[in-house]
Order: sequence, then C-alpha cells, then structure tokens
Amino acid sequence: MTDYSPPNRVRPDRLQPSPEADTVTGHRHDSVVPLIRWSIMTADRAWPRLTGIAYGGDYNPEQWPREVWRQDVVLMREAGVSLVSVGIFSWALLETREGVFDFSWLDELLDLLHENDIAVDLGTPTASPPAWFFASHPEARVVTRDGVTMGFGSRGMASHSSPAYREAIVRIADALARRYAQHPAVVLWHVHNEYGVPVGEDYSEQSVRAFRNWLRERYGSLDGLNAAWGTAFWGQHYTEWEHVGAPAAAPSVVNPAQRLDFARFTDHQLRECFIAEREAIRAHATQPITTNFMANQSWGTDLWAWAREVDIVSDDHYLWAADPEGEIGLAIAADLSRSLAGGEPWILMEHSTSAVNWQPRNIAKRPGEMARNSLAHLARGADAILFFQWRAGRAGAEKFHSAMLPHAGTRSRVWREVVELGQGLGRLAELQGSRVRADVAVLWDFESFWAQGLEWRPSVDVDYAERVRAYYERLWRDGVTVDFAHPSQDLSGYRLVVAPAQYLLSVDDAERLNRYVEQGGTLVVSFFSAVVDEHDAVHEGGFAAPLHPALGVRVEEHLPLREGEKAAVDWRGERRLSADVWQEDLDPGNAEVVATYAEGPAAGGAAITRNRHGSGTGWYVSTRLSSTDLASVLDAVYDDAGIVPPRHPDGLEVVTRHGADADYLVAINHRAEPARLAASGVELLTGTRVPGALEVAGGGVAVIRLDARPTGGGRTTP
Ligand code: GLA
Repeated sequence: MTDYSPPNRVRPDRLQPSPEADTVTGHRHDSVVPLIRWSIMTADRAWPRLTGIAYGGDYNPEQWPREVWRQDVVLMREAGVSLVSVGIFSWALLETREGVFDFSWLDELLDLLHENDIAVDLGTPTASPPAWFFASHPEARVVTRDGVTMGFGSRGMASHSSPAYREAIVRIADALARRYAQHPAVVLWHVHNEYGVPVGEDYSEQSVRAFRNWLRERYGSLDGLNAAWGTAFWGQHYTEWEHVGAPAAAPSVVNPAQRLDFARFTDHQLRECFIAEREAIRAHATQPITTNFMANQSWGTDLWAWAREVDIVSDDHYLWAADPEGEIGLAIAADLSRSLAGGEPWILMEHSTSAVNWQPRNIAKRPGEMARNSLAHLARGADAILFFQWRAGRAGAEKFHSAMLPHAGTRSRVWREVVELGQGLGRLAELQGSRVRADVAVLWDFESFWAQGLEWRPSVDVDYAERVRAYYERLWRDGVTVDFAHPSQDLSGYRLVVAPAQYLLSVDDAERLNRYVEQGGTLVVSFFSAVVDEHDAVHEGGFAAPLHPALGVRVEEHLPLREGEKAAVDWRGERRLSADVWQEDLDPGNAEVVATYAEGPAAGGAAITRNRHGSGTGWYVSTRLSSTDLASVLDAVYDDAGIVPPRHPDGLEVVTRHGADADYLVAINHRAEPARLAASGVELLTGTRVPGALEVAGGGVAVIRLDARPTGGGRTTP
C-alpha cells in the first residue's frame, strides 16, 4: 500500500527538536526546525550543487549546428542562465542502434557548457524511444482502451509494461550515468519526461498480463478480488485469473472498482520504470535525481507516492490561456509542488516565456507577465525558475511554442524580459532555501479524483477540480497561504483543513479527520465527500457516514439540480447566497444549521452546518457555492480556526518566505493599477529602501527583505 506520510529526506538522527513548539495548540509556528532541516539537506545531496536561484530551461542543441551552440552559450551568459536541461529527447542520437552509443556530441556540449559556467540537468531520453526500437519490438507499442495500437513519429508510444522497453531504458540510463556521473557540469539528473502523458493507460497484452500479476499480489486470491470489485453485480464473478483483464471499452460502463485499480496499476507501472532508471543512475552517480511532474495539470500519477521516490520535486506548469485568472491555477500548482516536496524547495522545471502551441488558442504573455509568473512560483517555494525552452525550434510540432530566445532573436521584447528576469533573480540569491509556512491545508487526493472521474456519477456538473479551485480561490483572494495534503497525513499542525472534493475516503482516513477535529482542528467538508471507500463502494451507513463524529450530519439523499438551475441558500437569515448543481436531504442531527435551502428540492432543509466535536469544529457545505459566495462560509470558518486573513488589495498576491536571517515578502500585482503594501525593509530587485509602505506598480513585482520578523500577537496567515 502507498505510504502517504510526507517525504522527509533528512536522516531522523540528524534532526533537532523544535525549541519553539507551541505546547498548548501543537501548531507549528517556529522557523527553527525547517531551517535546520534545510541546512542539513543541502549538506546531504538533495539540492543541486548551485548557488542562488537557478535560471534556465530545456536546451535542445541537437536540433542546431555547432556554430549555434557557441552563440547559445554567449547569450545564456548574457541572460544569467545557470542551469539547462539537456538530452531529454535525444535517444536516437545517443544510441544509434541497439547497444551502439555515440556520445561525441554530448561530450562536446557538456564541456562547452561547463567552460561557460552553465550547469547541466542531464535527461534520460526514455520518453521518446528510437525508430529502431519499435522496428525490433513492435509488441512494445501502446494499445488504447479502444484497442488501437499507437504508431511512431511522435513521443511516448512505448508500453511501460514491455520487458523490451524496460531493458532498453535501463541500458541507456546506465550508459549515460557511467559516462557523465563525474562530469563537472552535471548537477542533476532528469529521468524521462512527464510520466503519465502522452502515455498513461496501456491495454496491450503485456500490460494485461502485468495487471493480473499486480492484482494477485494485491488481493492474494480470486475471492479477495471478487469481493473488492463487487463482482456479484452484473454477473462479473471470476473463477480463473486468466479471465481477469484490463477494463477495455465495453458495451456499457465497466466495473468502476476495476477501472480504479487499473489506474492504480498504471501509476505503479510508470513508477517502476522511474525507479529502474533511478537505480541505474544511482549505481554510478551521486547527484540528485528528479523527474518533472505536472502537479495540477495531469492526474494520471499519484504524485504523493512519486514525491517519495525523487530526490527533489520538480514541476512543469503552463497557464491555461482560456482562464482570465491563470495566476490562481499557477498558485495551486506551486503550492501543490511545495507540499509534495514536504515544504522543501522545489524546481520549476518548465513554464513558458510567452504562448504555448498546444491549446486551442495560444495567447501570448503580455509585458511583465512572464516575470509575474516566475516570481509567483518563487514566492511559493521554487528555488529554480526554468523554461521550455531555451531557443525556439524551427522544425517539428513545437515550432510555434515560445522560448527564452524567440524566432525574432535578441531584438525582441521576450528576449529583453528574459535578460531582465535573469538579472532580477540574480539579486534574490539570499532567498534560496527560505521556506513558506501555511496554517491551512486543502486536501488533495489523486485516487479520489480518479474514482470520482469515472462514469455514472449523480451529476456531470460535479467536478473535483472545479471545487478545489473554488475553495482555493477564496483562500487566495483572502491572502491566506495554503498547503495541500493527503487525508492520511498528520494534519495536526494546521489550524484549518478544507476537503473540497474528497469523494473517496477510507474509514481509517475518516477517523483521522474525526480525531483532528476532536483535538481542536477546524474542518470544512464540501458535498459529495466521504461517499465511497477505497474500492469505490458506498460506505456502510450511507454517504459521509464515516465523518459523522466530526460533522454530526447524515446525508439522506443526493438531490442534483437540472442544468443551469439555481437555488438560493439563506445564510443565518442575514443574506441569500446563490448556489447551483447540487442539494441534499440533510439530517443535521445536533449540528447547528447555519444556512437553509431557500428554494429547490430541499427548500426549508439544512444546507450548511457547523458541529462542535471535542474541542474542534466540523463544517459541512452541502451545495455548490461560487468562490464569491464561499466568503460567507470561510469568514465564519476563519473565526473558528483563529485565522486573521491579511486581505491585501484586490489582485495583489503576497507570500512570505522565511529565511535563516530574514523574512521576505514577495508581492505580485496582477492588476493594472498600483497597489499599496505595508512593509519596512529593502526591496531587493531595485535595492531601494521601503520605509513602512511600498507602492507596487500595476503589473509589477517586488521582493522585500523585512527589517523585522513579524512578532506574535494576532495571528495572520500571510
Ligand atoms: C511539456 C513537455 C515539453 C514541451 C512542453 C511544451 O511540458 O515536457 O517537452 O512539450 O510541454 O509546452
């Protein structure tokens, strides 16, 4: 079973107790422990051998002649580039035929980069096997759920369960590590690229065989499998292991427990491939090893489990152009990356200087937007700001993707902003290793998302990503910094835990949440949570039954609304909140009814409840409120949790990073108008003194080293 405790790469015997732990509340509010961890960690091997905030991007020189390489390094130095990712898609040029290697070009390239003081994050090229591989191993191709065998000419394409593929990835990873483990330019290893896309589920024969073996190990017997999958339903009972298959497309909906297990199996197979490469590298090399996640933009991998396998978390994030407030999705990605890293610094492995090329409408970033995006990642804990890619490629599927050096060359706005950002990051070196702290955790559970995403749910309008965004957005607008957490984690350090989309919740994890409340925590649970157990079976006792101690309510029936139907909620007789998508027949028991349904099928019934349990409080919100209407709920919740939200001017994003010697405010103004920020210190990008307040220019950014650390008193969550 997956261990979801947060990753801790520091040997416990080298940790020191927290001298400032609050013995009354048990809440973390000191800066000492994280900083001790950090200094130990850097002395170990978890962060690349780099100083300051790393800057750079994916570099694909194999697409260019040698003279361009020499121009590249000159321009990289001009831009302040300190780290480039190399070789991610170079397999066909490194292993030209099975077992025949040509490292001459990479030797030359790494030497050139090293001579120019540019460090290398060396990729293993296993996301793109060469043509010769598929010619020799046609069975290694991926088969889709509909039975289509995938062709060549793209990337991905290989079955992660294929023995031939697994042999080949270890061979190339081993060969690279043997050759470059000692190369002075190499400070980090980058295994594969974005596991889970474009290849996730695979329905090939080898995958089906591996799935059977995985199930045998998980369930031990067919009886165990039949029980877990509820195969008495629709006559699916199995009598032979050989009859158990992958959940391929079928005339009607396929068993959801089988599909959920296939998602878990797929994640497991991908992770095994990562581990095989990682071990091949570790046999020769001591540099840290990572693979680039897509924290909130791909859901196929259980990143809590992956985070335990990498030496350092790295993430790729691209703005969704259709979202007019893409900065909120960006903040989710960054907070999730930091949380996956257990609070340690992480690498923004890829983002874009301007437009991408793969969305329906690829919107170019406007002046200042790239810097705002970069600083927002840094504010939330990234100590490396990297892009896809260094130089815009002329050929291939990504030629319309922006780059640090665009097709227009150095006489361009993008290049000027790239140089300016490099200079700016150069002035922020002292932030390296400083930490972000949060009093609020939002639950994030990939398995629950997989299960909820399957067919035949009560309403297609219920969307887990939308609910996470709505609650997060409310917290973001209130200036409250948030961690993400898995429900099995120790949550006792948080004043507030929000569960916006916890459809699947095991009884054990529910008990943990009940205890969290009993011991003084504040918990907010949104509708359609704690509905099923880990086999996608409805909990005994009914929907949300395992959370009854914390919430005090019984959900009698789900009452989804018609498309577009609105149903108002009456908040404490004071105001009406607009709701849609969902109502419930709720028995509030002894919980306080804070809001009732003013209309709709549950009119007159309880809509939002608040329950005292032990010394804490459990809130249940049984309908869909917009992030604006959620303000009423969260304002009351903040009171229960003892949180004073800082509420900066509209559109001014402010996050604090806590360092060994100072605290830093990172401020990003997403509005066109200037915004005032109260602070005393030094603005590091300009070197100017901030005498009590700073006007952050419209669209601008600021990083202030504070004169003094905030002292106790009224608790805020900046
Ligand atoms: C992904 C990949 C990159 C590139 C970018 C383009 O994140 O990792 O190789 O394709 O997208 O946005």
